[in-house]
Amino acid sequence: GKSGYDHFMLKEIHEQPASLRQCLSGRIDELAGHIVVEELDELEAPRRVHFVACGTSYHASLYAAALLRDAGVPATATLASEFATADPPLPNGTLVVGITQSGETADTMSALRDANSRGAETLALTNVVGSTAARECDHVLYIRAGPEIGVAATKTFSSQLIGANLLVEKLLGKTTTSRELIESLRDLPSNVQAILDDSNAEEIVDEYLDSTAYFFIGRGLHFPVALEGALKFKEITYEHAEGFAAGELKHGPLALVTANTPVFAVVTGNDENARKTIGNVKEVEARGAPVIVVTDGQSDAERYADAVLKIPETHERVAPLLANIQLQLVAYHMANRLGRSIDKPRNLAKSVTVE
Ligand code: M6R
Repeated sequence: GKSGYDHFMLKEIHEQPASLRQCLSGRIDELAGHIVVEELDELEAPRRVHFVACGTSYHASLYAAALLRDAGVPATATLASEFATADPPLPNGTLVVGITQSGETADTMSALRDANSRGAETLALTNVVGSTAARECDHVLYIRAGPEIGVAATKTFSSQLIGANLLVEKLLGKTTTSRELIESLRDLPSNVQAILDDSNAEEIVDEYLDSTAYFFIGRGLHFPVALEGALKFKEITYEHAEGFAAGELKHGPLALVTANTPVFAVVTGNDENARKTIGNVKEVEARGAPVIVVTDGQSDAERYADAVLKIPETHERVAPLLANIQLQLVAYHMANRLGRSIDKPRNLAKSVTVE
């Protein structure tokens, strides 16, 4: 049942402290300062990694590929439905990773089978034990999020991001993981709980019920979060929403920005990325758009915002997950105010088993 929540989606959003704790359970050796992923003990470090996935899982793939590239491992992410036509070269030493919550998505399975038939090693990052992806891939890493009923993926996306971190540390063959990352993972469940307890997302959406469209912007690791924020929003509110790389605005999307298009901007830390995104925030503000900033307060982004969704300070790899929780709540509360069918949005299925 829904345990007292109005919707499975809200219940699953609130389960995240527990589902993330479960994902990390036994996988952090704090004393030794490293990540333990027993099921991947046989996996040898690949020379390059190719992620394939759809929808929300594709956004997790963009994030995962960015982490690997940051560590010097060539990595790309392809939409599974585009894999056949993209036909990427899979030279020796390529690992193809399918990220799929259900483990049953037809597009993802077909990309994984194609990769397998071309001799690549395959790995499934999935939530469902014994799923098709888990059975057919050479390796499997479970995200242990527990069953997700809502069509909109929420807790599984958060666990995919953490699964990506576990995978990356493992693939790098690292004997130690940075202390900051280990501590941020340890503090993650309580930081998520703090957001759930204090979020003002419900009040904020009330201000913007009659807008023309809703935009989400982010840079670097927050770009996949911008895409995910918009996907969740459009799935359950049926309103037009788009996610953009913050720097792409002036290459086209800025033409759509008006006083009637709220822009959700994700800005954490106080580095070059943050500074540049704040520049993009000023661009949309100059066009009269309401700006809602998701921030940890380290920069002065709030100065340019009409509303602020606050997240705790954490490791830069964990911040996208925290920011996304606020955007999950934004999508949920907006859909709820509009009276949409949140757990079963029109035209959508939980698991897409046709190509
Ligand atoms: O089960 P999968 O992770 O393979 O599903 C992929 C997509 O169909 C899925 O993420 C879809 O985009 C969700 N409805 C997003 O909320």
